[in-house]
Amino acid sequence: MVNLMRFPKDSMTKIKKIGVYTSGGDAPGMNAALRAIVRTAAYHNIEVIGIQHGYTGMINGDMIPMGARSVSNIIQRGGTILKTARSREFMTREGRARAAANLSAHGIDGLVAIGGNGTFQGATLLYEEHMIPTVGVPGTIDNDLYGTDFTVGYDTATNTAVEAIDKIRDTADAHDRVFYVEVMGRDSGFIALDVGIGGGAEYVAIPEIEENFEAIRQKLTTSGRQRSSIVVIAEGAFSGGAVDLAKRMSEFVHLHYRVTVLGHIQRGGSPSARDRVLAAKLGSAAVEALLAGELNVMAGEVNNKIVLTQMRDTWEKRKEIDSSLINLAQVLSV
Ligand code: F6P
Repeated sequence: MVNLMRFPKDSMTKIKKIGVYTSGGDAPGMNAALRAIVRTAAYHNIEVIGIQHGYTGMINGDMIPMGARSVSNIIQRGGTILKTARSREFMTREGRARAAANLSAHGIDGLVAIGGNGTFQGATLLYEEHMIPTVGVPGTIDNDLYGTDFTVGYDTATNTAVEAIDKIRDTADAHDRVFYVEVMGRDSGFIALDVGIGGGAEYVAIPEIEENFEAIRQKLTTSGRQRSSIVVIAEGAFSGGAVDLAKRMSEFVHLHYRVTVLGHIQRGGSPSARDRVLAAKLGSAAVEALLAGELNVMAGEVNNKIVLTQMRDTWEKRKEIDSSLINLAQVLSV
């Protein structure tokens, strides 16, 4: 027997009105998560207020009522219809106090936050200083949140990057060139590692492993390999990024090369089926957790099960990169 809803309809709490927002870097699937949140709330007869432009909108009172129909036809759309921002003001106590006052003026009893570690740091402080219950939905292409195997947006972003590398490979092969491909991930190498393995890269550089200029040089000059090669670099893996690395390397490796920085292309586009389903599960679970009385947690999925993790832990604890994948990338580029 499958239990579709973890809590029966109308069984819970005093929460009558929730606010929902997207914050930080957008990720494909944020709209699918928003849809799940608004519709789960509607199912439980809870009012929803959409807070636009993340914490900036919370501070400025940029809020709109939402209902089941206001999230029609968005499941397939990238970006976020609520808009997003990175707010400096919210990093101050005064900014958070203004936001809390606005929430209270709008009668909001709890929040659902869709975002990454910056978003959840903000939500932790808002709860600790103003006791506003908040449940998080992990939405970031970086996949760097503790408490979930995958974040919403990661699957789409890695597929976008692998598709780009397949295309780069064609032209790299045609010209016998080395391509240095920079992917996103300032502090984490989850994208780079999966993209490197999925795209068959000759070398993958990630921030979790110390810069190793010599290892790349050796790899590119191994006999029989003086043709096209792909080096995948997470943006935070080498100071100066791929452009600088390529220039320095050209003094030692005399092969024609080009640099491609994939950048924000990885953040856009229609979410994959996997991201949509994850967004649906976690968005819905977040509302139910809030209604069940959870105060400050993130809804994640670990080993195919929904788990709630203390909000503070999601950004304070480090989600470790799988070291067997680092090994695999090396073995397969022998
Ligand atoms: O956090 C997601 C992310 O895409 C990172 O991978 C990247 O370093 C950063 O955002 C870029 O942020 P911005 O869009 O503000 O340039």
